[in-house]
Amino acid sequence: MRMRKKKHGAERIEACAELLIKEPTAASDPRNAGVYFKDARPVRLEIGCGKGNFAVGMAVAHPDVNFIAVERVADVCCLALEKAMAAKEQRPNDNLRFVIGNAEHLGEWFPPHSIEGIYLNFSDPWPKKGYAKRRLTHRNFLKAYREMLIEGGYLYLKTDNEGLFDFSLEEFEAEGLTVEFVTRDLHSSEKADGNVMTEYEKNFSSQGMPIYSAWVRF
Ligand SMILES: C[S@@+](CC[C@H](N)C(=O)[O-])C[C@H]1O[C@@H](n2cnc3c(N)ncnc32)[C@H](O)[C@@H]1O
Repeated sequence: MRMRKKKHGAERIEACAELLIKEPTAASDPRNAGVYFKDARPVRLEIGCGKGNFAVGMAVAHPDVNFIAVERVADVCCLALEKAMAAKEQRPNDNLRFVIGNAEHLGEWFPPHSIEGIYLNFSDPWPKKGYAKRRLTHRNFLKAYREMLIEGGYLYLKTDNEGLFDFSLEEFEAEGLTVEFVTRDLHSSEKADGNVMTEYEKNFSSQGMPIYSAWVRF
């Protein structure tokens, strides 16, 4: 997601500081009360949250879960933070936080087996073969997710990109993972109900493009 540098970006992010985890550390269990959230609840991550529509929508729809949205581009995360601040009243459980950083560092941010679910929504496809290791479903990332997720935790994938989807299914199989749900048309599937759309998803589906999705159990 390319974006012109935001004017007063740092100040705007600072104005949302109450939602930002500035120094996540594997020494703290995010599920515990008083670490990042007031109340103890299961924690789910979204990696590459973009402008935050999904993270905010999920946090509103699931007050019994605490969500942490990760985005590596600060100016993009700024928009997500502002969206979350604007929806504060709809989240009486205060169950959404953000980390600005690259998901390559997940292992430094959260202790092993502390996360219940990971969402990858419209991740960058990195179509050139030489960049396969950057794809967020590359087996190296899957190994890191295995370390992070609780036993029986889930990875939820949505994408418009058939090449990335097929690659991901191959990587899941190579890692011996159980794909519990797979569809090449999410919006016509049994999981359409309760699906919270991302910004990219709204855009692609308004053009009539199918959304590919898989739920994978670890
Ligand atoms: C194509 S956009 C999709 C945004 C959003 N998920 C949506 O569906 O509207 C991918 C986003 O993931 C972020 N991203 C890509 N790789 C990342 C990584 N390794 N760690 C954190 N964020 C990442 C990008 O900066 C970008 O904002």
